[in-house]
Amino acid sequence: MRLQLATWPEVETYLKDSTGIIIPIGSTEQHGPTGFVGTDALTAEGIAHHLGARHGIMVAPTISVGMAQHHLGFPGSMTLRPSTLIAVIRDTVESLARHGFDRMFFINGHGGNIATANAAFNEVYAERSLAPASNRPSVRCVMRNWFTCPGVMELAKELYGDADGSHATASEVALTYHLFPEDAARVRTAPLSPEIAPNGSIFDAEDYRRSFPDGRIGSNPALAEAEHGARFLEIATQELAQQYQEFVNA
Ligand code: NI
Repeated sequence: MRLQLATWPEVETYLKDSTGIIIPIGSTEQHGPTGFVGTDALTAEGIAHHLGARHGIMVAPTISVGMAQHHLGFPGSMTLRPSTLIAVIRDTVESLARHGFDRMFFINGHGGNIATANAAFNEVYAERSLAPASNRPSVRCVMRNWFTCPGVMELAKELYGDADGSHATASEVALTYHLFPEDAARVRTAPLSPEIAPNGSIFDAEDYRRSFPDGRIGSNPALAEAEHGARFLEIATQELAQQYQEFVNA
């Protein structure tokens, strides 16, 4: 159930049975010549909606712009500073907590969000720990990356080997090609040179563009097929469903 498509009485009814909610979080940043700028938000959201619909779990609106300063050398990329993203996550969590949600399960599509999201969770906990003691339930936040689910990593290895890479990966591009076939048909034939992009470390935006001229890192997304994306969606949904149940039941 999507929060945005629910009425407030429906949310109130949901809360009588469950205080868990999924919050998709991604990024808006270049993904090479054949990948969508919205890849990290679209993948996290696609999986979250699939999982929420299958198991009747409430899904919050997606946090679509993340911490992606290193991608700003490419047109279309957007970033929140770490301090801004911390504020966005805190206010998101506290808004939901006000109504009684206390198990926040973030599904993440972007590695660059991890450190900042963990800092945000610690800000939420610190604010509560520093407040006078109360009997209200504790808010718990976890973040799971769909792309590090064991089954997803196994399938990526099987399909692409090392050419999955670490940015604009074949696996994430395949998932978006499954979710958005018409747009995929438009972008997927752009030439990629070299076939497998270089590997290396990430610093600021200028450095990134010099080191990785077409935006990819270590990947060959020409290997991405929509049919692979359907498999990634199913595996990620199954594994995250189990992780969600364990989290809300703990
Ligand atoms: Ni990505």
